[in-house]
Amino acid sequence: MRAVLCRQYGPPGSLTVEEVENPTAEKGQVVVDVKACAVNFPAVLIIQNLYQFKPPLPFSPGAEIAGVVRAVGAGVEGVRVGDRVFASPGWGGLAEQIAVDARSLIPIPDGIDFVPASAFLYAYGTSHYALEDRGRLQPGETLVVLGAAGGVGLAAVEIGALMGATVIAAASSDEKLQVCRDYGATETINYSTEDLKTRVRELTGGVGADVVYDPVGGPYSEPALRATAWEGRFLVVGFAAGEIPAIPLNLALLKGCDIVGVFWGAFVGREPERHRRNVEELVVWWRAGKLRPHVSSTYPLDRAGEAIRELADRKAKGKVVVTVGG
Ligand SMILES: NC(=O)c1ccc[n+]([C@@H]2O[C@H](COP(=O)([O-])OP(=O)(O)OC[C@H]3O[C@@H](n4cnc5c(N)ncnc54)[C@H](OP(=O)(O)O)[C@@H]3O)[C@@H](O)[C@H]2O)c1
Repeated sequence: MRAVLCRQYGPPGSLTVEEVENPTAEKGQVVVDVKACAVNFPAVLIIQNLYQFKPPLPFSPGAEIAGVVRAVGAGVEGVRVGDRVFASPGWGGLAEQIAVDARSLIPIPDGIDFVPASAFLYAYGTSHYALEDRGRLQPGETLVVLGAAGGVGLAAVEIGALMGATVIAAASSDEKLQVCRDYGATETINYSTEDLKTRVRELTGGVGADVVYDPVGGPYSEPALRATAWEGRFLVVGFAAGEIPAIPLNLALLKGCDIVGVFWGAFVGREPERHRRNVEELVVWWRAGKLRPHVSSTYPLDRAGEAIRELADRKAKGKVVVTVGG
């Protein structure tokens, strides 16, 4: 089969596309013919050895896939050859086939294509867990989302609106903010041209945001924390800006607010039953048309490096997907 390979750590341009051995379905595993693989920001990091997970070289990046079951290993129940499925294996998805733990597979609902299915789990899973389980977001509360047109950011905008919050989207361009409005944001802040803290205060009548969702870090976290309401929740999701900010802890004291860590991947491993219930809720919303994965561009497997580059260059809106095979 063909696979995108990271042979040595480096930028997206250093990835190669090569013929490699087909995977086999070991005990408890299933081999999936990959039809689509969504690219996420961790792909930018993992190929440079900057991510928390470090697969041995050479490896294929590509965190989440949708495809068709090709082979089933010993001991697997409830999955059959030909089933349409999606999963979030973390890496290995930018290939024509992948072997995954059968328990991680979720059936693709009827009528939904592979491309949106590949773009579903990571963004919605993270943002749902962040807002509902970690942030305890309530109807009528105000939610500020940073990096709001990115993969997890746009999912947070959509889920926040669905949960009955007033959503303020913050991003770096008016074009990105228009997408956020289409997905349920009622107010927007362009943090390239506007002062984040001042604008959140203005838009909340001086009260501040009940919940802040921060997948960006860098220079945006501290002003957003300073614009958090009394007893608000500040959700630490990621550091796409590159810098992990050092926050003066007195801010948490003065605001009586919570700074809350969100680690969806660890949650999935540690609490599979709660994760399963969360996914069920998301799939119900998806089938009802309440969630609409936004895929702004697609690339063939040969150009997977360009897909990853779009994220590294801060150009993507919603999700970027690599299509595999015919
Ligand atoms: N904690 C968890 O469980 C969890 C789960 C999933 C993802 N994450 C993390 O969440 C972050 C976002 O992931 P994603 O897949 O949604 O990424 P993405 O689609 O690339 O979105 C990231 C957003 O960050 C903003 N950004 C600011 N400075 C940037 C820079 N220098 N380079 C790139 N983007 C920059 C961009 O928005 P603007 O241009 O509008 O600023 C961009 O839309 C990553 O750090 C990822 O590791 C964490």
